Amino acid sequence: MLVVLGTLLALCFWATLSVGIYSLVLASETSKNITTTNTSLGFRWYTTGSIVAGSGAPSGLASNQLYNPMSLAFGASNELYVADYYNNRIQKWVIGGTAGITVAGQPDAVSGSTSIYLNLAAGVALDSGDNLYVSDSGNHRVQLWLNGSTSGTTIAGTGTLGSSFTQLYTPRGLARDSSTGTLYIADSGNHRIMSYASGASSGTVAAGGNGAGTLTTQLYTPTGVYLDSSTNSLFIANLGANNIVCWVLGATGWTLVAGHPAGSLGSTSTLLYSPYGLTLDSMGNVYVADTSNDRIQFFLAGQTNATTIAGVTGIAGATNQLLYFPYAVALDSTLNLYVVDTWNYRILKFQRY
Ligand SMILES: *[C@@H]1O[C@H](CO)[C@@H](O)[C@H](O)[C@H]1NC(C)=O
Ligand SMILES: *[C@@H]1O[C@H](CO)[C@@H](O)[C@H](O)[C@H]1NC(C)=O
Ligand SMILES: *[C@@H]1O[C@H](CO)[C@@H](O)[C@H](O)[C@H]1NC(C)=O
Ligand SMILES: *[C@@H]1O[C@H](CO)[C@@H](O)[C@H](O)[C@H]1NC(C)=O
Repeated sequence: MLVVLGTLLALCFWATLSVGIYSLVLASETSKNITTTNTSLGFRWYTTGSIVAGSGAPSGLASNQLYNPMSLAFGASNELYVADYYNNRIQKWVIGGTAGITVAGQPDAVSGSTSIYLNLAAGVALDSGDNLYVSDSGNHRVQLWLNGSTSGTTIAGTGTLGSSFTQLYTPRGLARDSSTGTLYIADSGNHRIMSYASGASSGTVAAGGNGAGTLTTQLYTPTGVYLDSSTNSLFIANLGANNIVCWVLGATGWTLVAGHPAGSLGSTSTLLYSPYGLTLDSMGNVYVADTSNDRIQFFLAGQTNATTIAGVTGIAGATNQLLYFPYAVALDSTLNLYVVDTWNYRILKFQRY
């Protein structure tokens, strides 16, 4: 068993490191409008963003407004699907559009617990048919809204918080395996990631589930989850432990990707402060919404020292160069960066060049 575990942990690390060998040290020029990482590798983004959804403060429930967006996913035609948390709905925005339409929950933002409602929409994922998987966090359930449907069905959780294999406790980030249909749920209040096979009525624990803590067998309020198929592992934003960890599927513990192993927070290039969301690109580089530092951190694969690619560390603001508690980050197919700028009630796009 120990040998098996050692192999799995080594795999997680080795796969990440081997990509990192190609990604040499980056040089940053953060004082300018542009962030230069490694020019020849092409990891560069303008540091001035543009609003692609929401209209900034004040928050509201009009179709052009958002109220603490928390998650973002792309549809089959590159539409933005935004988990509009306090509006208890999922909004779909066409890129370049001036308003969103409600595709799950109610347009008037009323919350509820029957099939036509959501209550605190924290996470969203899609399949190739634009069917929606929604973390209905206040109802402690995950809802499936088929494309075009006016109601959802419960595919995980019972509607009552709890820690059994059929229950959830404030589900947040979601990741879906597009080849198998398996859904991974950041079951934040239970300090675990649940795995639901397609059609299953109960889940299994994929990571954590050993109480809140910073031991390698534990998670601490995990809020973001990303499935890296190339390493068969989950990358987890471990909010309460101020770190990002990698958990190979089937392993009994994590290895550290970024942040402090014992949970210390900080604002240097190697530390994080309440990282809520994350994503990876196909080369294994890691992008972290370093929420309480008001910045997005870019970690080359295998490295623990980041470059800030959006926002300014510790400075909350509403200009197009500043962020205010960003909760999530997403990339399109050409690695343009989309930031869920939660407390500015908007989604910002930072162009890669
Ligand atoms: C960028 O990466 C290329 C290719 O790996 C390498 O040759 C070059 O030295 C790197 N430049 C910097 C500034 O790190
Ligand atoms: C920064 O770059 C963006 C994108 O090219 C541009 O629109 C903006 O005016 C620039 N801002 C400053 C302060 O140079
Ligand atoms: C979802 O439904 C809309 C409206 O019927 C349709 O235009 C769109 O193509 C569907 N998306 C997918 C991926 O099938
Ligand atoms: C991390 O990067 C920063 C900025 O490039 C640099 O000043 C610092 O020495 C690096 N730290 C480590 C531990 O590599």
